Amino acid sequence: MANLATITLAAGKGTRMKSSLPKVLHQVAGKSMVQHVVDTAGQLTPQHNLVIVGYKADQVKADTDGKIEFVKQEQQLGTGHAVMQAKEELIDFSGVVLVLYGDTPLLTSETLQQLIEQHQTEEAAATILTTKVDDPTGYGRIVRDQSDYVTKIVEEKDTTAEEAKINEINTGICCFESDLLWDCLAKLDTDNAQGEYYLTDVPEILVDQGHSVSALSISDTQQTIGVNTRKHLAEAEQILRQRICNYHLENGVTIIDPANTYIDSEVEIGQDSIIYPFTFLEGKTKLGSEVIIGPQTRIIDSMIGNQVEIKSSTIIDSQIGERSEVGPYAYLRPGSKLSSEVKVGDFVEIKKSEIAKGAKVPHLSYIGDALIGQNTNIGAGTITANYDGQQKHRTVIGDNVFIGSDSTLIAPLRIGDQAITGAGAVVTKDVEADSLVLGVPAEPRD
Ligand code: UD1
Ligand code: CA
Repeated sequence: MANLATITLAAGKGTRMKSSLPKVLHQVAGKSMVQHVVDTAGQLTPQHNLVIVGYKADQVKADTDGKIEFVKQEQQLGTGHAVMQAKEELIDFSGVVLVLYGDTPLLTSETLQQLIEQHQTEEAAATILTTKVDDPTGYGRIVRDQSDYVTKIVEEKDTTAEEAKINEINTGICCFESDLLWDCLAKLDTDNAQGEYYLTDVPEILVDQGHSVSALSISDTQQTIGVNTRKHLAEAEQILRQRICNYHLENGVTIIDPANTYIDSEVEIGQDSIIYPFTFLEGKTKLGSEVIIGPQTRIIDSMIGNQVEIKSSTIIDSQIGERSEVGPYAYLRPGSKLSSEVKVGDFVEIKKSEIAKGAKVPHLSYIGDALIGQNTNIGAGTITANYDGQQKHRTVIGDNVFIGSDSTLIAPLRIGDQAITGAGAVVTKDVEADSLVLGVPAEPRD
């Protein structure tokens, strides 16, 4: 493939979103729109992956990552003006310049590849990605001559009544020969309905100069949705979610009801896992194989081992080892680390705690800043009192410990291996291994 540079336009405010957040930072399936676009561009391994930023540029820069370079467009004077800003960065670059819009998150790299291939085979000066839609409202229209050659793009606000009826639209994605692009951009003016420098005027300039402009019309109109409003955002979300579910279904995951399952784009799920409805798998969550999740479960940025079962629970930034069981109605807060074969049952909250292999916290407990040893059993209603009003303190419980129901463990506290606390004990002092403590405050007994 020829030398390639991609330019993603992400400087606009997105007025129609009615938002204080720049439009391109709104998320679709857990990832910002501009991140979707630059990731897709990145799959083509371009020499330059440029992002044009302007409105709240610092915020867009901070929230977008990858092998990308940012270029600032100080004033948003139109899409043509935005591309012009990249001239300096690309002054020594010769090849194909692919322009992408930061508000088209559903495009695939296969489509872009196809666009570039056609551009090269036809030796065109520019190649536009187009599609035919039932309702072209809001999009630029593709105007062709009698021989079907593209002559120009007309923006909706500049169309004649006749042109407005054209249902082949400009998706915004277009590639150009770099050697011709900069000269054409210099010729743009703002003599149009919106008073902007339109990138979409470049094809007409090229045609007038005797160059050929090609168009690749794709039938999958969903890919090309340009998100301008919250309604479009919801549509894009639904389409992408469907696509993500299909991907996992093809990989051997059972999703009982894809329409009611919400999986972010970077989530990984092992084979033979089963996902019940109303489950949200978010961020960089990774599920092993043969896991059973849901119904009504939310997992964010967590690692779940093979054969784990989680029912109606919320898991945030945590790890759960193989064959463990969680829920129903458990809440694992950030920094919880369950080893294998652990049971965390109903109405249990765990925060920043490690629970070793085979240990059980079956009912109605709060475990915070604690370390729980192997095969230890925590009775119903046990609380680690980890906060003295000023500071948090740790509770360290050994292996094979039996904590009686309704024990209150006042941290800082250490409980030795094989120790036992009686039901209702309020444990204020460390407990030796193999000993029994009872009462309020708890005292040793033989
Ligand atoms: C644009 C196209 C239209 C096409 C549609 C497809 C133009 C003039 N029109 O219209 O033909 O059918 O996309 O979705 O190109 N941006 C900048 N700097 C600017 C202006 C815009 O970076 O000065 C960015 C925006 O952040 C956005 C993208 O360019 O990501 C497109 O801008 P937008 O205003 O949404 O263009 P449309 O009116 O949708
Ligand atoms: Ca748009």
